[in-house]
Amino acid sequence: MCTSDDAERKVKAARGDPAQARKELLEAAEIYLTLSMNADGREREHLAKAEELFSEARKIPVPEHVHAPAARRGLTFKDIGGLSALKEEIRFKIIEPLLHPEVYAHYGKKAGGGILLYGPPGCGKSLIAEATAGEAKAAFFHVKPSNIKSKYVGEAERNIAELFRAAREQQPSIIFFDEFETLGAERGETAANERGAIAQLLAETDGMGAKGQQVLLLAATNEPWSVDLALQREGRFGATVFVPAPDSEARKEIFKIHLAGKPLSRDIRGEELLAMTEGFSGADIKAVCEKAADIPLREYFRTGEMRPLHMADFLSALKGHRSVVGQWLAKARREMGSRNALEQYPELTCGAAP
Ligand SMILES: Nc1ncnc2c1ncn2[C@@H]1O[C@H](COP(=O)(O)OP(=O)(O)OP(=O)(O)O)[C@@H](O)[C@H]1O
Ligand SMILES: [Mg+2]
Repeated sequence: MCTSDDAERKVKAARGDPAQARKELLEAAEIYLTLSMNADGREREHLAKAEELFSEARKIPVPEHVHAPAARRGLTFKDIGGLSALKEEIRFKIIEPLLHPEVYAHYGKKAGGGILLYGPPGCGKSLIAEATAGEAKAAFFHVKPSNIKSKYVGEAERNIAELFRAAREQQPSIIFFDEFETLGAERGETAANERGAIAQLLAETDGMGAKGQQVLLLAATNEPWSVDLALQREGRFGATVFVPAPDSEARKEIFKIHLAGKPLSRDIRGEELLAMTEGFSGADIKAVCEKAADIPLREYFRTGEMRPLHMADFLSALKGHRSVVGQWLAKARREMGSRNALEQYPELTCGAAP
């Protein structure tokens, strides 16, 4: 067990690099907090010391990576195959309110109402979030739980507050919570020090859509059954939208996107490729295209010949490629079934991918 000497050593080491200094101070504060739980007559003294160090640590600014907008890759909806209904919904709920707030105000509509995207891995959730920011010409805050969560008491709340502050400062902006099940997990299922983060998130999102505020929310998860219901309420993430594996038409578009600029032979049988990739995600299709292109590329370094991609290259790329979409659907049905929530998610019961 750590002693007050250990804590003081950390306090002394808290100089120089701000991130390191914060860490040392927070660790020292945690030691005093633990010491204050011992009944040794010095509880109050230790608690006061812990509070003092916590407040000192909080004076040091939160590291940039927590709240800096993501670098822009210039993605737009053209870079996404399929998902036309979802693009339409995002356009109405997120993009247009940011581009034309006055029209929404004219019809007495508050901007806002975040969208929670859910579905199997690799089907374009993160991609569409980033492209939304591109379409809306908005600052894009890509939030991963690892950037927000902290083992230190109160730090996650502070990170969330700082994130919303930065997003308001740079509005119009979109905050995208990725792997949302980890951040917005049901309160009953989370550790006490994480519940504060959800409470902070609820508080920050409570006033969403307030007049003049141009910060809109998107979130994505593979496990919607683990997301706190209070976060799914209207005004926060009122709409929960399924992002399915692409159908044949969408797969065609995705192939086109990922084969753009690659030399293709005329022997490629498109319909056959579409049939063979039934149940594949966009990420699977991208991987197949990359693997297929690697074959003539490797050959070139042996033969010096620059040949186009043939059907045979796609067939070998497809061999042994297994999509995880089917496994995800089976798991999702099991989870929803055990919570009696299948009616809430009709898209899981009707067909889609095998
Ligand atoms: N509809 C699509 N159109 C074009 N490319 C796609 C599409 N869906 C997926 N991809 C490709 O697959 C990659 C991974 O997709 P993305 O990261 O958006 O998946 P995700 O749904 O967020 O998955 P996860 O649940 O694992 O986070 C994208 O960067 C893109 O290259
Ligand atoms: Mg993702």
